[in-house]
Amino acid sequence: MDYRNNNQQAWNHLADNGSLFARVATDEECRQPLRTLDGRGWLPASVAGLNVLCLASGGGWQAILYACAGANVTVVDLSESMLKLDNQEAKRRGLKIQTVHTSMDDLSMLGDESFDIVHQPVSTCYVPSLKPVYAEVSRVVRDHGIYISQHKQPVSLQISHRNERHQFVIGVEYYQEGPLPKQQDTSYREKGATEYLHRMEEIVGGLCVSGFVIEDLREPKRADYNVEVSHFGYRGRFVPPYVRMKARRVARKTSDSTQESAGFKIWIPGSPGL
Ligand SMILES: C[S@@+](CC[C@H](N)C(=O)[O-])C[C@H]1O[C@@H](n2cnc3c(N)ncnc32)[C@H](O)[C@@H]1O
Repeated sequence: MDYRNNNQQAWNHLADNGSLFARVATDEECRQPLRTLDGRGWLPASVAGLNVLCLASGGGWQAILYACAGANVTVVDLSESMLKLDNQEAKRRGLKIQTVHTSMDDLSMLGDESFDIVHQPVSTCYVPSLKPVYAEVSRVVRDHGIYISQHKQPVSLQISHRNERHQFVIGVEYYQEGPLPKQQDTSYREKGATEYLHRMEEIVGGLCVSGFVIEDLREPKRADYNVEVSHFGYRGRFVPPYVRMKARRVARKTSDSTQESAGFKIWIPGSPGL
């Protein structure tokens, strides 16, 4: 079974069985949607009227919050059960959203340059290659549009188990090809899903060569100093599970051979050098 079929089934099962990731936005979160979505101040002061693509983010959280903030929301997901939560929640709250059932590496039904913001929670681990995902996002986002994405860090996916001293053992090779093997340590892995390790050069470098400049990069801290060793917060003291980036689409067309971005002149290949 290929990664799409397998992950569709796995996520349908997770959604139907109350996964933490299938938790819909609460009334309190909906009262302050932008603050809930954006602890870092990466979003504009208002998203009202903007076209937002919530990519691989079914489950009734991101899409509902953006819609509460007045955005025109399209949510893409591979799992019908996750999308059902978005539709149910939108109906219950009297919001209008569009749901699209597809894989993040095939957005062919979405038009070029049609979104101001693309927001993608942790999900690139479910596809074998990041290249087509970044290419599709680069195509559908407008010039100067924002792409916020979060990814599993490769080092976290390399942990195979703990030894008798509760030390974390790297048992998966960095240059692992193909689906990740099953491991004893199942923290930050979803049951039944087919997952892939993407190296930092693919996650960060791949974004830079797909038409984006990175404006900020964070490693959400999951360390907890008040928990038992068995808790994932203990693991978080040693290994960062995620990396989150704010990137901006470089303008496609320019009046001359250079363009301004983040205060720097960028050289366009094929044009005279700076
Ligand atoms: C960790 S959940 C993220 C959604 C959640 N709302 C959140 O708050 O983080 C990952 C999502 O990716 C979706 N997914 C997995 N593989 C996918 C693919 N190839 N294309 C699109 N979505 C996919 C899953 O169905 C799931 O909804």
